[in-house]
This record gives sequence, C-alpha cells and structure tokens, in this order.
Amino acid sequence: MPDRVPATDLPPGAVRPAGPWAVVNTGDRLSAVSRRCRHQLADLAEGSVDADGCLVCPWHQARYDTSTGEMVTGPRGFLGWHGPTPGYTTLVRWFGQVARLRVRRAVRRGDDVVVEG
Ligand code: FES
Repeated sequence: MPDRVPATDLPPGAVRPAGPWAVVNTGDRLSAVSRRCRHQLADLAEGSVDADGCLVCPWHQARYDTSTGEMVTGPRGFLGWHGPTPGYTTLVRWFGQVARLRVRRAVRRGDDVVVEG
C-alpha cells in the first residue's frame, strides 16, 4: 500500500506527512522527500514552503530543493540557538549538498496524492 495524503489536505504551499515522507505541494509541483532534516533530524513534514518553492525546516530554517533533495541554505542556529552561525551554516550546507534527502515523485490519483516507488 503506497503512502498517500488526501489531496484536499495538500493545497499549494502545504507540507504533510505520509509514512516516512514529507509530501510537498509547491504550487507548481508535487513531490515527496524523506522526513528527517540532515541537520538535527527535525521532522520536515512539519516544515513550510517558502516563496521560492523550497521546503523550510521547522527548527533552524535550513532550505531544501524538493526536486533534488539538496540543502540549498544551511541552518540558522543549532540546538536551541536561533541566529547567525556563518561558518557552521556553510559546513552543514556542504554536508546537506552531499547527503541529500531521498526524493520520490508524488502524483494525484483520484482523491489522494500518492508517493510513488
Ligand atoms: S534540524 Fe533542520 S535546520 Fe536544524
């Protein structure tokens, strides 16, 4: 049984959980990425979509390209600290570019959005 989300729960700009996946509707495209942030494992299904269509982590706002799983902007903070950490941010972004999120296609099927493969 594939992982799925009711399409009515996934309007443009929404992120929802489906099994191990965060299913994202950027407004232009549906996709699914693995749920654990490459920084400190926050649940990306609790994240948001920004104006550029990137998935934003709910903890320290690392940004991901949901078509590649690549971290395109590193975290702004760590643990409970939220603020500038330039060298650390660059280092984590490098890691997030190498160790990308897993990516799957998500398609509308009937009343659901289904994660393929
Ligand atoms: S856990 Fe995602 S940016 Fe820190």
